[in-house]
Amino acid sequence: MNNSYAVYNGKFSSLQDIKISPLSRAYTFSDSVYEVIPFCKSKIIAFDSHISRLKKSCKAIHISTDIQKVSKEVLELINNCGHDSGYVYFQISRGIDPIRSHMFEDNIEAETFGYVNEFFFRPQNLKVMICDDLRWQRCDIKSTSLLGNIISMNSAKSEGCDEVIMHKNNILTEGGASNIFFSDDECIYTPELSKNILPGITRDILLQELSKLGIGFKEGVYKINDLKCAKSAWLTSSTKGVAEITEIINLDTNLTKDHFLFKKCSEIMSDIYFS
Ligand SMILES: Cc1ncc(COP(=O)(O)O)c(C=O)c1O
Repeated sequence: MNNSYAVYNGKFSSLQDIKISPLSRAYTFSDSVYEVIPFCKSKIIAFDSHISRLKKSCKAIHISTDIQKVSKEVLELINNCGHDSGYVYFQISRGIDPIRSHMFEDNIEAETFGYVNEFFFRPQNLKVMICDDLRWQRCDIKSTSLLGNIISMNSAKSEGCDEVIMHKNNILTEGGASNIFFSDDECIYTPELSKNILPGITRDILLQELSKLGIGFKEGVYKINDLKCAKSAWLTSSTKGVAEITEIINLDTNLTKDHFLFKKCSEIMSDIYFS
C-alpha cells in the first residue's frame, strides 16, 4: 500500500495508516466532492482557483466545510511531502451516517481526506474514442460520483485508447477527465460551459492566456462533425496539461500532428508549469 503523506479529518499521517468508516457517505453513496491540485517544480498551479472550485462544489451539494482549514491542509501536504512535482487529491464527503440512508442526518459533520502523490508532468499524445456521454445532469460539480466516466474510459481502454471524447445527442461535452479543444487554421474552439461539463481550471488558464495574446478562440456548441473537420485537437487537465489528440479511433479526421495552434497552447501551458 502506498505510504504517501496524507490527512484525514485534520490529522496528518501516512495513507496506509488512515482508517475510514464503511458508513462514510463517500463510501456508500459517493456523496462527496474533490479536487486535484497540481504542483510543478515547487510551484502550485492555480491554487486559489482550485480552492474556490472546491468551495463551489461543496456549496452546490450543501456540504458546509471550513475552506480555510482545507487550504492549509493542502499547503501542508505539498510543502512537507518531500516531492517537488505532483498533485494533491483532496476529497470532502458529507460525513458518516449512523445507518445508511439516502436522507442524511441534519447534524452530520463533513469528512475530509487528502493525500499527495509524486507526479511528473510530461507531454502526452492521446489516442481517443468518441462515446455517448452517460453522465448525470450536473457535471459542473466536481463530484466523486464518476461511474459514467469510468464505464466510458474503461471501454476506451479496452480499445487501446487513453481517453474519450463524450457527446450528448451529437453535441460535444468533454473528455472523461479533461476538457476538449480543437482548431482549424484560424481559430481555436472549445465547448461552452454548461451543466454538462466541468469548468476546468486548465481550460480557464488557457483561455485567459489566449485572450491576453490576442489569439482567436470561440466557446460554443459544437458537434461531432466539427471535430471531423478539425486540423488539430487536444485535451486539457491539471495532470495532462495540454495533450494532443493524435487519433480518434471511431472518427475519420484530418488531424495534423504538431499543428501551430496546438503548439502555441502547449507552449503557453509549459510556461505556466515550468517557468
Ligand atoms: C470530467 C473532467 N473534465 C475536465 C477536467 C479538467 O479539469 P482541470 O483542468 O481543472 O483539471 C477534469 C479533471 O479531472 C475532469 O475530470
